[in-house]
Amino acid sequence: MGILEVKDVGKRFGGLQALGDVNLSVAENSVHAIIGPNGAGKSTLLNCLVGKLIPDSGSVMFDGQSVLGRKPYEINQMGISRVFQTPEIFGDLTVFENMMIPCFAKRDGAFRLHALENVGRERDLVEKAEQMLIDVNMIDKRHMHTASMSRGDKRRLEMAMCLVQEPRLLLLDEPTAGMARADTNNTIDLLKEIKETRDITMAIIEHDMHVVFSLADRITVLAQGTPLVEDTPDKIKGHPKVREAYLGEAH
Ligand SMILES: Nc1ncnc2c1ncn2[C@@H]1O[C@H](COP(=O)(O)OP(=O)(O)OP(=O)(O)O)[C@@H](O)[C@H]1O
Ligand SMILES: [Mg+2]
Repeated sequence: MGILEVKDVGKRFGGLQALGDVNLSVAENSVHAIIGPNGAGKSTLLNCLVGKLIPDSGSVMFDGQSVLGRKPYEINQMGISRVFQTPEIFGDLTVFENMMIPCFAKRDGAFRLHALENVGRERDLVEKAEQMLIDVNMIDKRHMHTASMSRGDKRRLEMAMCLVQEPRLLLLDEPTAGMARADTNNTIDLLKEIKETRDITMAIIEHDMHVVFSLADRITVLAQGTPLVEDTPDKIKGHPKVREAYLGEAH
């Protein structure tokens, strides 16, 4: 049994079957990559895991408990954090203020902007946020407003905002999308370090095969809402079905 068990999950948008019967088992402390062409249903699947979408059928179990029917913040409190395809950070707040959001949310179950005014009295949370910024190499940018940051830094901050909640399962939707090669390589290094130093399971959606093959223990290939094949990176590399699905895309 994996820490995450997805069974026969289906999701329609009107006449479009975005997910067929998706089955997925993610082993604890592994990195499981989900790859597939544009529109394959990768983000839809991830959204079903975090309560952003409710599947029409099937079940999603995390550590033996169903996530279906739970609100996103409840799923978050179960130990699942996610980095969406578009970074969800506040451009008007500084790096440090953004970091405080999940710190408050984890402790209080909610975040209120005015809580930031009392940050001085929250020594333990401040230390936690600062330590996380040190861990991801962003402490020098703590006073920067995030709107002006590079995409790579925004992603890094969003990852730090997830990690500070000490999730058991981290879901990443294209963590290197739109990044320059140097930022991509930095992200690979950061994710490798996370994998090695923390008790954490990761499910990662990614188009960049270099990222996938650098990190994944297992890979599921999704095409038109259905898993084509699931295997180790070595097996996936030479798989004819994968080459077919990726014609013109694998590089
Ligand atoms: N909210 C929605 N309403 C209607 N159709 C949707 C919705 N979200 C996704 N879709 C459709 O469902 C299919 C799967 O989309 P999804 O975003 O899950 O694909 P993806 O694999 O993440 O693609 P990409 O690699 O481009 O991010 C696509 O055809 C998409 O247009
Ligand atoms: Mg997507």
